[in-house]
Amino acid sequence: MKKTMLCLFALGVFFTQLQAQDQKMNAFVQALMSRMTLEEKIGQLNLITPGSDIPTGSVVSSNVEKKIAEGNVGGLFGVIGPDKVKQAQDIAVKQSRLKIPLLFGSDVIHGHKTTFPIPLGISCSWDTALIRYGASIAAKEATADGLNWVFSPMVDIARDPRWGRVAEGSGEDPFLGAQIAAAMVKGYQGNSLADKNTLLACVKHFALYGAAEGGRDYNSVDMSKIKMYNEYLPPYKAAVDAGVASVMSSFNDIDGVPATGNKWLLTDLLRTKWGFKGMVASDYTSIGEMVNHRQGDISQVSAQSLKAGLDMDMVTEGYLGTLKKSFQEKKIGMADIDRACRLVLEAKYKLGLFEDPYRYIDAERAAKEVLSESNRAVARKIAQESFVLLQNDYKTLPLKKSSSIALIGPLANDKNNMLGTWAVSGDPQKSIPVLDGMKNVGGASLKIQYAKGANITDDPNLARQSNVFGLRVEIDKRSPDEMLQEALAIARQSDVVVAVVGEATEMTGEAASRSDITIPASEVKLLKALYATGKPVVVVVMSGRPLVLTGAIEGAAAVLQTWHAGIEAGNAIADVLFGAVNPSGKLTMSFPYSVGQIPVYYSQKRTGRPIDANNKFSTKYLDAPNEALFPFGHGLSYTTFTYSDLKLSNTELTKGKKIEVEVTITNTGAMDGAEVVQLYTLDKIRSITPPEKELKGFQKIYLKAGESKRVLFTLTEEMLRFYNASLQYVSEPGEFTVMVGGNSKDVFSRDIVLK
Ligand code: BGC
Repeated sequence: MKKTMLCLFALGVFFTQLQAQDQKMNAFVQALMSRMTLEEKIGQLNLITPGSDIPTGSVVSSNVEKKIAEGNVGGLFGVIGPDKVKQAQDIAVKQSRLKIPLLFGSDVIHGHKTTFPIPLGISCSWDTALIRYGASIAAKEATADGLNWVFSPMVDIARDPRWGRVAEGSGEDPFLGAQIAAAMVKGYQGNSLADKNTLLACVKHFALYGAAEGGRDYNSVDMSKIKMYNEYLPPYKAAVDAGVASVMSSFNDIDGVPATGNKWLLTDLLRTKWGFKGMVASDYTSIGEMVNHRQGDISQVSAQSLKAGLDMDMVTEGYLGTLKKSFQEKKIGMADIDRACRLVLEAKYKLGLFEDPYRYIDAERAAKEVLSESNRAVARKIAQESFVLLQNDYKTLPLKKSSSIALIGPLANDKNNMLGTWAVSGDPQKSIPVLDGMKNVGGASLKIQYAKGANITDDPNLARQSNVFGLRVEIDKRSPDEMLQEALAIARQSDVVVAVVGEATEMTGEAASRSDITIPASEVKLLKALYATGKPVVVVVMSGRPLVLTGAIEGAAAVLQTWHAGIEAGNAIADVLFGAVNPSGKLTMSFPYSVGQIPVYYSQKRTGRPIDANNKFSTKYLDAPNEALFPFGHGLSYTTFTYSDLKLSNTELTKGKKIEVEVTITNTGAMDGAEVVQLYTLDKIRSITPPEKELKGFQKIYLKAGESKRVLFTLTEEMLRFYNASLQYVSEPGEFTVMVGGNSKDVFSRDIVLK
């Protein structure tokens, strides 16, 4: 009793303090706004880039310095590093009339200069504590480099690997996506935005961007509300619940209205229903793009966006150029402009920029904290955990250091493709290629020979498009046959072949949708020739998406999926290949058997005619299975785990009560290792047709060889809720199946009844 009273008292003190802080902020912002002209308020809504190394659209702003001095800029992106940030901040706080400091944003989406694996890879760790820690390291580096806003996390649920941007998110599942979204927001924003090493996170791309038609980037989305609420919105909502400071609107339309100008989305749902209190920025030129969406001219779409709830205009400068006139013509009200301006100023206030506009500019800190050895060690650890052992039939892995190794493949000794897409601040030259990693981990006596063997692709058109940000696909001067013969010669001399193949960095990511996501033909030819030597071939696949591996890996002794693994790629890959680290990643996106199957994801519904090989008139292909080649949740280890003794504390569940689901996991192999234990449910009779399996929980556990652990999940009525046809979040009494397993396919199940 006493303890509860004390807790309540502490909570009361905390909320009173918060209220006092809010009041202080409101008073400050109100006073500032009362001194601002209409033009200055509109100026705060302008987010521009003077041009960076990686502009994503074709537009960059001109006369940036003059605009800052005139109070026409609220924030910049593409300006990185203490010196450059200081120059721009100087102009804002010394030359502009009201001396309002600028925001400095950047796409820090998988680490800053210490580049981590691509987010899809990171998600395969299923380790939310590590993910949060990684985001905090990224924030630490970015703030040391003058930044105070990251355009991350990207939480778009994606089930179409043709879409290049699947690389940036956490895969296909809303539950896992929501956990990761929250972890990243907390990692970036820490306990207080005013701390020197935390910054504003920005959840994107709101909303449904991952469901673009045909996997074509920037495309339309048309989706039922029940699918939206149940399957696509949860990660954005989780980011909002975790206190994300900002939201970025997406390029696509929703119900026929572009997200950027969609009032239902940005105001009714985001602010009114979800209670979001921060600011919303557009995506790169997405206000201007509403003209292409046939929503009207630039002044119409700018007014529409503002009224819809969009606060900052990224790059279009539609707000800057048209809002004043729209106000004079009474197409927008002062309340609209004030709302947006207030939210931008509040973000600056929370960061502490009004107290000290230079708080994130510290050259000494940058020199010490950016790309430090300890941060690189974190990158290596995250990479190790992101790898997924897809296949290891003959226990070829781990490799023996005494074996002679032929390291072959266009990605085997390549610095240019380690970092992955959207590594804006990463320097490819600082990355570790696999060859170096093998030598580092294997030691001086390692017998290793290297040959390129093939080009990533021989297609000059694909190569050209992959090389827009620097050389990623180098078409060798030698003929394909010459390269192949060199590779075969070293393969024949070795005990084992490690073939590193896959995609170049820019064959994935933004504006990198592909209709054919098989391993490129040049690499398949190489693999087949290597299999024909009779030597065991370990295939290491680097990619930004689940590729179609059918036709490429049938002769492989083992397959390790490593994604684009970041700055420490080579070391981390070698750690796993040699068994210094036991792989523990599990897929967060299903690997299709063929492109024609897409979308393929684990949480499919049963149809009225479930698949039945003996029934022609059942849901199936004539020429392919319905199932993924490798399903969601799949991932092997060098050891084996057995599941036994699944027990439920009760088979009846009532509101307010819980069922404990317990299972024993035993490490039955000879090596210590980690297993991701997954909990799924099925609602056996539901008013809207249910998915056959839905992830409801997971735990990553570490077991020594021979060790057993009891893993406990708590199941409550809330966990069985869903959005029904009236979009009410409810559970429906009846039978459910509870499933536990090490992937989404092989599970043990028990039935329960919800009363
Ligand atoms: C991307 C965003 C990114 C923005 C700024 C856009 O093209 O869609 O994800 O944050 O550019 O670089």
